[in-house]
Amino acid sequence: MEENKQEKIVEMFDDIAPTYDKANRVLSMGVDIQWRKKACNETFDRYDKPIDLIVDVACGTGDMMNYWDKQAKKNKRDIKKIVGVDPSVGMVQVGKEKFPNFEFIISDATALPVDDESIDILSISYGIRNVVKREEAFREFARAIKPGGYVVILEFTKDDKKGLLFGVKDFYMNKVLPKIGGFISKNREAYEYLPNSIEGFLTSDMLQNELNDAGFTTEFSKSFSMDISTLVIAKKR
Ligand SMILES: C[S@@+](CC[C@H](N)C(=O)[O-])C[C@H]1O[C@@H](n2cnc3c(N)ncnc32)[C@H](O)[C@@H]1O
Repeated sequence: MEENKQEKIVEMFDDIAPTYDKANRVLSMGVDIQWRKKACNETFDRYDKPIDLIVDVACGTGDMMNYWDKQAKKNKRDIKKIVGVDPSVGMVQVGKEKFPNFEFIISDATALPVDDESIDILSISYGIRNVVKREEAFREFARAIKPGGYVVILEFTKDDKKGLLFGVKDFYMNKVLPKIGGFISKNREAYEYLPNSIEGFLTSDMLQNELNDAGFTTEFSKSFSMDISTLVIAKKR
């Protein structure tokens, strides 16, 4: 049952892969760029050890790997290796064409092809919502990250308080986004999945509690884009 659900999600990403970047640019209106950079910079500020390995899980078409690379250069940090992991062959195919020098591996968040305690920084941007066996993935992250290393999550989180802007947000996510995303990708269902999967996901607090249970302590958390998106940076104990 869970395997089937996960397979369907990955197939959906295979299907929208050719238009993913274009739809993302239009739908996010570029706001995510600033937060991707912030995720990198805030993590570099906290982690002053040499960086042997960054793994970007659910790397998709590779943008987050590119930000790690670019921001490291700006911060004068040396990264020995950046690896992207994703189960969608279609998404990774696009990533490889965009970034031929990056290393991509086809695998799932619950099965990272790395040694125990070998990762300095593990990021997952707009990916953890799609991982059906999330708790298993968090245990896998804890296995693979060095003690004192970091997990960095960017994700659409569920709102626990329906504030003033709730109506605007709700309208954008449920009415505007599926139309535009559906038009660009020719897969309306995939862009109806997005608001539904956010509704079925965690609040920022719940996400941090799960990370805590898996052995991580939150050091930074902030919501943005009318609280649709959250950045969490947590340290492995
Ligand atoms: C919304 S895209 C995000 C891609 C990229 N990280 C970004 O920021 O643009 C979600 C990605 O999660 C991947 N994904 C889905 N299920 C996964 C799983 N179980 N483990 C790892 N990645 C998964 C999909 O293949 C897809 O590439």
